[in-house]
Amino acid sequence: MAFDIDMIKKVYAQMAERVDKAREITGKPLTLSEKILYSHLWDGSPNKAFQRGKDYVDFAPDRIACQDATAQMALLQFMQAGKKTVAVPTTVHCDHLIQAKQGAVQDLKRANETSNEVFDFLESVSNKYGIGFWKPGAGIIHQVVLENYAFPGGMMIGTDSHTVNAGGLGMVAIGVGGADAVDVMAGMAWELKFPKLIGVKLTGELNGWTASKDVILKVAGILTVKGGTGAIVEYFGPGAKNLSCTGKGTICNMGAEIGATTSTFGYDDAMERFLRATDRADIADEANKIRPYLTGDDEVYANPEKYFDQVIEIDLSTLRPHLNGPFTPDLATPVGQLGEKAKKNDWPIKVDWGLIGSCTNSSYEDLSRAASIAQQAVDKKLKPKSDFGINPGSEQIRFTAERDGLLDVFEKLGATIFTNACGPCIGQWDRSDRKGDEKNTIVHSFNRNFSKRADGNPNTHAFVGSPEMVAAIAISGRLDFDPMNDTLLNEDGQEVKLDVPVGLELPPKGFEVDDNGYLAPKEDGSSVEVKVAKDSERLQLLEPFQPIKDSELQGVKLLIKAFGKCTTDHISMAGPWLRYRGHLDNIANNTLIGAVNAFNKKTNFVKNQFTGEYGGVPNVQREYKAKGIKTIVVGDHNYGEGSSREHAAMQPRFLGVAAVLVKSFARIHETNLKKQGMLGLTFANEADYDLIQEDDTFNFVDIADFSENKPLTLEIVHKDGSKDTIKVNHTYNDAQIKWYREGSALNLIKKQNA
Ligand code: F3S
Repeated sequence: MAFDIDMIKKVYAQMAERVDKAREITGKPLTLSEKILYSHLWDGSPNKAFQRGKDYVDFAPDRIACQDATAQMALLQFMQAGKKTVAVPTTVHCDHLIQAKQGAVQDLKRANETSNEVFDFLESVSNKYGIGFWKPGAGIIHQVVLENYAFPGGMMIGTDSHTVNAGGLGMVAIGVGGADAVDVMAGMAWELKFPKLIGVKLTGELNGWTASKDVILKVAGILTVKGGTGAIVEYFGPGAKNLSCTGKGTICNMGAEIGATTSTFGYDDAMERFLRATDRADIADEANKIRPYLTGDDEVYANPEKYFDQVIEIDLSTLRPHLNGPFTPDLATPVGQLGEKAKKNDWPIKVDWGLIGSCTNSSYEDLSRAASIAQQAVDKKLKPKSDFGINPGSEQIRFTAERDGLLDVFEKLGATIFTNACGPCIGQWDRSDRKGDEKNTIVHSFNRNFSKRADGNPNTHAFVGSPEMVAAIAISGRLDFDPMNDTLLNEDGQEVKLDVPVGLELPPKGFEVDDNGYLAPKEDGSSVEVKVAKDSERLQLLEPFQPIKDSELQGVKLLIKAFGKCTTDHISMAGPWLRYRGHLDNIANNTLIGAVNAFNKKTNFVKNQFTGEYGGVPNVQREYKAKGIKTIVVGDHNYGEGSSREHAAMQPRFLGVAAVLVKSFARIHETNLKKQGMLGLTFANEADYDLIQEDDTFNFVDIADFSENKPLTLEIVHKDGSKDTIKVNHTYNDAQIKWYREGSALNLIKKQNA
């Protein structure tokens, strides 16, 4: 299900007109990022210049991609909207739930047994609502998107942070939470704060051992994990044109590791070659017709300091290969300097595993460059000192790489070829040599190397490098190996040196695949039955939330007064709970278990006002729910920061929490509360937080007059009968008050569709 070319033509036609208009309105030349943003405004043609980093703007993305873990709740919610089909082309990709253990065939079989109910559910919902479905084993979402759906100048959102990978094909592609994706699927606008812009000028040309990966490893070292926050990183300059399309994808992919909203590159010959090689010559032809619109204006790139908020320059000719880590992707060290650093920090020098794959580096080019190193090991009689694991990015890549003998080379070195899926990158790795929490080192070509990420062991030191560097290090078995200068002893006792890697940008005989794993949805899915077993513990169909009645907001009990940081992880923990992310009732058993109770500084230990006894937050809340009593959660500053996880709003709502009153909100969480039909409120006077006591009861005295720009009045009744009356602010506009009155945004959409 490639893009409908007529739709692309439409996007391009409006792009030309809207970009011209935006240039006129802003009175300046435009970056590529601005061209894509201004041509995807929800309201159509631009009529005002937006302030970067300030204005919230409604956009109309061209498409949506979801992975199997996040798609569950997103699609369960979408089903509530009462729509026949998704409003925007959408695909679902089964890649996160497949554990890497013995190899692709056995692992895929096992995943299909253990997660079949999730896969069946996703397949049936996709079939019913016009969503393209990529089966388990079809590939990793972002490689599949790059090969099939990404197109220059497009805008997409995806329920995964590495959606940004599609910037490699000139898109503005952004990772979002499920609630945002549901809005767009249901035909609503998608809101984003107009991003700031960071320009990265690339000069020179990659050579020797240096790869595209090293560009982003270097950028991460410069900007750190927070440096890109709220910004789009736009790459340009002569060096950019020398990078392959998938190499650009690698760079954009790891933009997530510097916190960037997304990253992108202007359309060029490498992208055109990739489009043609992936059977999309028609898109390349259309893109060629509007080429200047698909890249930043010349003046912008000639004087970047004038037009970007920050500019970085990197000379690819002198860039050295890096290994970043351990435990953070921004700790960049040039290869060759790692030995000393490791000794100083007591990082194990011996490397146990070399892993090649993930959405970041699993393209044909990546495999071919790494295979060129592996082939040398075979030819030069070098026996690898570390274990090798490979996850190809898609079935198309795997099939082609197998045909061309690339996988065979790795297998000769004893590598395990895992499923075309995330595998160890998402911790889905049953590591064969795992011995408890022993300190050890691995190298991989993934993007994230946080503690416990790959194998759950907090003492695994993971270093991130290019696939070819991972191959070389794995062959040597040493973190301090520098293939540019060091030699290795082969089986004949001779000293041999590895030659520089060589790779193929694209398969010379073209891509080939037998079954790419794609299932197109039915034209008319109305008769398709969504598969959810009644007794499933992982999936549960949602019931619409009932509107909160004004009468229920009298006599509201305090559930918890959270102390200090309360992120979405505190509200809805991840880890083992991820198993239940498609089952609201079950996952609700983790609600606020990470929040610190301000009265006793303990987590998951709150007072039940009826019994006077203390218990876990979900248990106490369920007791209030059984009595039909609504509750309130009180919190500190930046409540709900962290992720856009909609569970953090849905779970309290499901359990009967009516309101969240805090000093300040993380904006996305505040919006999520609104979407779920709850009250998200802030203290008009922050110091009133201190008035809240453990046995308080709350009366929303003027809730009947809930309206835009009008604070609410809250009466707090303390245990001794004394009262405080305070003002609480809210940011609901008229439309959002309707969501509240209907019980949720989706209830309103459903009503409007009826
Ligand atoms: Fe999967 Fe890892 Fe990418 S989890 S989507 S391969 S970041």
